[in-house]
Amino acid sequence: MKAYLLHAYGPPENLLLSEVPKPEPGPGEVLVQIRATSVNPYDWHHMRGEPRAARLVPGGFGKRRPQHSILGCDLAGVVEGVGSGVTAFQPGDNVYALVTHGSYAEYACVPEELLAPKPSSLSFEEAAAVPMAGATAIQAVRDDAQVRSGQRVLVNGASSGVGTFAVQLARTAGAEVTAVCGGRNADLVKGLGAVAVIDYAAEDFTKVARDFDVLVDIAGSPRITAAKRILRPQGSYVIIGGKAGRWFRPMDHRIAGELIGKFSSQRILGTDVVIGPVSARNLEELGRHADNGDVKPVIDRQFTFAELPAAMRYVEAGHASGKVVVSLP
Ligand SMILES: NC(=O)c1ccc[n+]([C@@H]2O[C@H](COP(=O)([O-])OP(=O)(O)OC[C@H]3O[C@@H](n4cnc5c(N)ncnc54)[C@H](OP(=O)(O)O)[C@@H]3O)[C@@H](O)[C@H]2O)c1
Repeated sequence: MKAYLLHAYGPPENLLLSEVPKPEPGPGEVLVQIRATSVNPYDWHHMRGEPRAARLVPGGFGKRRPQHSILGCDLAGVVEGVGSGVTAFQPGDNVYALVTHGSYAEYACVPEELLAPKPSSLSFEEAAAVPMAGATAIQAVRDDAQVRSGQRVLVNGASSGVGTFAVQLARTAGAEVTAVCGGRNADLVKGLGAVAVIDYAAEDFTKVARDFDVLVDIAGSPRITAAKRILRPQGSYVIIGGKAGRWFRPMDHRIAGELIGKFSSQRILGTDVVIGPVSARNLEELGRHADNGDVKPVIDRQFTFAELPAAMRYVEAGHASGKVVVSLP
């Protein structure tokens, strides 16, 4: 099968389209023919080995070279075979999953407990747009911020992959959503359910927004002490991402938030997407939302498998509006 191999940290040119043996499913594993995948900032961070601090974290990128030679966390495809003990899936099933690595390939063996049925209303490309961004958004909105009907929620970075899901999930929970994004994406986020838009290039939302119950901070652009001021005293501030850097960013932003939160009446916490049975359950829930028409993946661009390095470069530039997906033949 064809797969992109990464032997050394570096630019997208280091991703080498190679011929490798097709994997065989072990006990409890499912062999999936991948029909579509997507690019998340996590993938280019892993490709670059940055922030470097993440190379030292157990289970992180790998100290000197990438821990995994095949990157890619999102996949949607068709079950081709199952290992012993697999009961929930059979050949021919359409599935999708959030995995730790391995989706930049024609096939992957995925532990059964990570898979969810592909929502029937979504194409493979749309389904592949969901796992990392959607699972992060649902953890942030439903679990960490515990968004409830009637609440005022501000999503900073609303046009991003995670943000486009967060806006829709908060609106579906009955919240009134204000979106912070660039002016060119105002119509996009209104279409997802935002009732008000703040253009981050024209206005500093920490100066104009007040009395919010929840801040979902995906862009990680404001100082935490300034952003806290938009919240009510018992409000929740959920930090998902931040500005990228070579050494510590965006990890530092989150750590600072959690420290400041220890001395605040407001809850300040970071969201760390979970990959496991929890993410499969979250994908099932996101699938129900998709099939009900409550949540629709927003796809900015679709690349072919041969163009995957270009997709990586595009996401790394930081201006995708929604998700960037890659289709396989
Ligand atoms: N904690 C976790 O488990 C987890 C999981 C997934 C992602 N993340 C992190 O979350 C962040 C977002 O990920 P993503 O996949 O959603 O990224 P993305 O889609 O690549 O984000 C790009 C978008 O962010 C917008 N943006 C950039 N700067 C902004 C600012 N100052 N204010 C408002 N919007 C801004 C851009 O709009 P313009 O083009 O107008 O600038 C663009 O639409 C990343 O830092 C990522 O590493 C964390």
